Amino acid sequence: MTTTTPASAAVRAAVGTAHTRVEGRDKVTGAARYAGEIPFAGLAHGWLVLSTITRGRVREVRTAPVLRMPGVLAVLHHGNAPRLRTDYVGLLGVPPDPAACVFQDDRVPFAGWPVALVVAETPEQAREAAEALAVTYEQEPHDTALVAGHPGAYAPQGHMPAETAKGDLEAELAASAVVVAEEYTTPEEQHSMMEPHAATALWDGGRLEVVDSNQGAGWVRDELATLFSLDPSAVRVRSEHIGGGFGSKGPRAHQVCAVMATTALHRPVRVVLTRRQLFSLAGYRSPTTQRVRLGAGPDGRLRALEHRSLNQTSRVYEFVEPSAGVARVMYDAAAHRTANHVVRLDVPSPTWMRAPGEAPGSFAIEAALDELAERAGVDPIELRVRNEPQAGPVSGLPFSSRNLVACFREGARRFGWADRDPRPGLRRDGRWLLGTGTAAASFGAGAAPSTALVTAEADGTFTVRITAADIGTGARTALTLIAADALRTTPERVRVRIGDSDFGQAMIAGGSMGTRSWAWAVTAAAAELLERLALGTGIPPEGVTVRSDTTEALAALAQKERHSFGAQFAEVAVDTATGEVRVRRMLGIFAAGRIVNPLTARNQLVGGMTWGISMALHEEAVRDHRTGAHYAPDLAGYHVATHADVPDIEADWVDDHDPDDPVGIKGIGEVGIVGAAAAVANAVWHATGVRHRELPIRPDRIITAARNRPGGGAVDA
Ligand code: MOS
Repeated sequence: MTTTTPASAAVRAAVGTAHTRVEGRDKVTGAARYAGEIPFAGLAHGWLVLSTITRGRVREVRTAPVLRMPGVLAVLHHGNAPRLRTDYVGLLGVPPDPAACVFQDDRVPFAGWPVALVVAETPEQAREAAEALAVTYEQEPHDTALVAGHPGAYAPQGHMPAETAKGDLEAELAASAVVVAEEYTTPEEQHSMMEPHAATALWDGGRLEVVDSNQGAGWVRDELATLFSLDPSAVRVRSEHIGGGFGSKGPRAHQVCAVMATTALHRPVRVVLTRRQLFSLAGYRSPTTQRVRLGAGPDGRLRALEHRSLNQTSRVYEFVEPSAGVARVMYDAAAHRTANHVVRLDVPSPTWMRAPGEAPGSFAIEAALDELAERAGVDPIELRVRNEPQAGPVSGLPFSSRNLVACFREGARRFGWADRDPRPGLRRDGRWLLGTGTAAASFGAGAAPSTALVTAEADGTFTVRITAADIGTGARTALTLIAADALRTTPERVRVRIGDSDFGQAMIAGGSMGTRSWAWAVTAAAAELLERLALGTGIPPEGVTVRSDTTEALAALAQKERHSFGAQFAEVAVDTATGEVRVRRMLGIFAAGRIVNPLTARNQLVGGMTWGISMALHEEAVRDHRTGAHYAPDLAGYHVATHADVPDIEADWVDDHDPDDPVGIKGIGEVGIVGAAAAVANAVWHATGVRHRELPIRPDRIITAARNRPGGGAVDA
């Protein structure tokens, strides 16, 4: 592995050393302000009213009684709201979600659709009036149930091919010594970030100012400018601290409502979504139904691989959860087929959620591989080693680096895999059956064009300005370390300012691409700044500023398969009488590029793995198909893993410097969740001898499966 050593021997490299978050003190003392708590003089508060029907039309919004209630200033709805421009494709190549473009017509395409905004002097008055607002509807029959083989399923036309195919699948399956053909399902999952969405909008000297909680201030700025037909330079979006996003914090109804209301009322307006409102307005991970067919020779080498996935989307917006995409990267076979299909239902619009595609897709393919290992009598790790592709199975492109086997070898050593008896249902500890499981992880490693401003200040310090977002990842701290090395100084002398659209165009915090994209821009600007300073003309009082733009450098990158990889290990204890599953330990070893800050990187990976446990055992948003709405859409009804559910999790990495990146980074935001649920599910099989192909593995599913076994209980030792 190569390391970048600063030219000045007196300055130690900051990248690769553990640093607590630069804003950590502000966060734990409450000095850090979030979008919903920054004070503004004359602030008014908007409260959203959501549809109580699942499909139909709004017949009447009875505003008059509500407008007479204390403190009420306005009621916005489709009858009086300004028209938005919605016929465009945004920065990220997708059109706006009509659920964000509020009050444009009277149709209701799902339960929890925004039908009105009540604005009042206080949040309490706004809520009181919103709950009193009478809305009448014309109701139509709805369909909210995702089922395999739904007649409405179709292959979407997107930038990613919906289907890939090579070879004769049926012939290879017929010629295979071992075949697995199974269905796997995952439920609707919610992002459940700590901080709900919140925005305050105001007009200030002819400029629209929005203080928001988002994953890309420039992204939200551009979308708001387009929707309201404003010049982008007339809009400023700031998003300094963000309490989690996981893919859900883009342009949404709350910002649009705040802008409409401040424009109508000529005073600052804040709109905060409630936890319940997030269930229909903030996106979610679609449920999936997936079909995997694997055929292999007696040695477990794949001859046939088919991975088909179906997800739901709303009637008004097409979102594809590309679960079968993971098979295009991970495993090759003479016959190889993948398909991501989608069906429009009367449900809210799903969106990106941590490892979109890879998270549910890896559950199906990595569980199927475990079944193949069992049937072929090959160790699950050895099976994966034997099926390592030399190039991208679909693209044929070389991998920039693929250190998956190194992850498995190191993980196996540390987890004690060699001592494992492959037969299921043999290990007991009192009432508990014990088992271990493993699975592979991968996630794309990309970078997107970004600009950065780096200033040498007259006092010898440096200021970095970039429209980056730290959604809790530690990105601000990582950029501080990267800038320090690039400027050959110490982190203490570097101030990184982020979350302001006025700093210029930059990648969002998404796709595990944020820190890599921003680091590239910061490094480029810093290098040029040092050259400028070396000319020795001195620093004027306003400092010396250099602006970088990585568009050309990124366009020159060779086409390769670029991914992070990982090996997940889990040990579970299962009580088939009570249905409890307890994860006893978990280990993840990753090959995820150069690790900038081991402290926050470990935090990211452990966070992803924790979510994998939660995905395997707990998380499930349940819809009542009779009404079309959720049961208990809150954090009591929707269980995310808590401390009691999570053991000590160990995450570590192997050397994996990306040679094509100036810092060697790949990105670590998402790979931690990939394969984690499969490792847990595979361990549950090893403990009990029963395959659970439906997530989450709930107590009732454990109990029912145990009852249905021949003999009525766990396998005999
Ligand atoms: Mo992530 S799902 O790309 O925010």
